[in-house]
Amino acid sequence: MTATPLLRLDHLGIDLHRRRREPRPLVLDVSFDLAPGEALGLVGESGSGKSLTSRAVIRLLPKDTRTHGTAEFEGENVQALQGERLTRYLSREAAMIFQNPRAHINPVHTLGDFLTEPLVCHHGLTRPQAEERLVPLLAQIGVPDGPRRLCQYPHQLSGGLLQRMMIASALITEPRLLLADEPTTALDVTTQQDVMAVLDEQRRERELAMLFVTHDLELATATCDRVAVMYAGTIVEQRPAAGLHTGRRHPYTAGLLAARPGLGEPGERLPVIPGRPAAAHETGEGCPFAARCAFAEDRCRLERPVLRPDEDGAVACHRAHELAGDLDRPKEPAS
Ligand SMILES: Nc1ncnc2c1ncn2[C@@H]1O[C@H](COP(=O)(O)OP(=O)(O)OP(=O)(O)O)[C@@H](O)[C@H]1O
Ligand SMILES: [Mg+2]
Repeated sequence: MTATPLLRLDHLGIDLHRRRREPRPLVLDVSFDLAPGEALGLVGESGSGKSLTSRAVIRLLPKDTRTHGTAEFEGENVQALQGERLTRYLSREAAMIFQNPRAHINPVHTLGDFLTEPLVCHHGLTRPQAEERLVPLLAQIGVPDGPRRLCQYPHQLSGGLLQRMMIASALITEPRLLLADEPTTALDVTTQQDVMAVLDEQRRERELAMLFVTHDLELATATCDRVAVMYAGTIVEQRPAAGLHTGRRHPYTAGLLAARPGLGEPGERLPVIPGRPAAAHETGEGCPFAARCAFAEDRCRLERPVLRPDEDGAVACHRAHELAGDLDRPKEPAS
């Protein structure tokens, strides 16, 4: 029997319910497991549903949405947690680094107030004890003058510094599950490396599990154990990160890999995936990627492929196995 994963999403869906309008799917049928100490990269173009999926895990979805399917933390349905159990889950077990820190840090309080609050309210520390614990962590992630920064207000900090404060707020409570939504996008390369080193260390030392949301497939393959590729609100491929470059079976994954900067000669144009990303509600009966896919045939436009397990991962493409070696060839969508 396999052990219960730390996090399990089972056919999770998120719908938008607006008055006098048909419900609209935003996320569809997302399933994955995450074990302690494991990092799963959730990758895809803008609007593919990465943030909503991760926010569902801490029940922080827009008010006009409803979920179906389940998100379970150690076998407990997150949607059903209440009272003290919910507070413990949100203050000690799961933490999130938000994509846009300015929207999540109260502008009228100092960063010291923001960062020490969980330690004082939920971990029984005094404010000086909390600050004492914070300063070395801040130094580790590239904020050497912690005591001064803790007296400042959010508007006094650059986007990159504020993002580091957000990272500190997520790590300081020593959660078991970290939902990191584009945690390093606002940071320069050196700080990005420092932050990734701290996250890695936490994974090794404390078995921190991480859902790492990013549009950067290269970063995900370099830092995660597994990668799940999302398109139009759903996962279209999932594989060990180390084998993704050679083992990818979905034309969308192959397109993302081919479009990585730094692959071609200097001055050479990168191949792009033609067309624009589709939202979940815009996709019809067939494969959501069919309109942009160079390999689509009639069946792909009529019948939605399901995510099927294969040797080392899973892929949702009718032609995945016959195409395997051919994915880099045609560049234009089939007419
Ligand atoms: N509050 C909301 N109300 C209505 N639709 C929303 C809301 N939040 C997100 N959406 C829609 O849900 C879909 C998924 O959004 P989400 O923010 O999860 O994408 P994402 O993959 O995180 O994109 P990005 O890379 O730009 O951050 C998009 O089509 C988006 O327009
Ligand atoms: Mg997002």
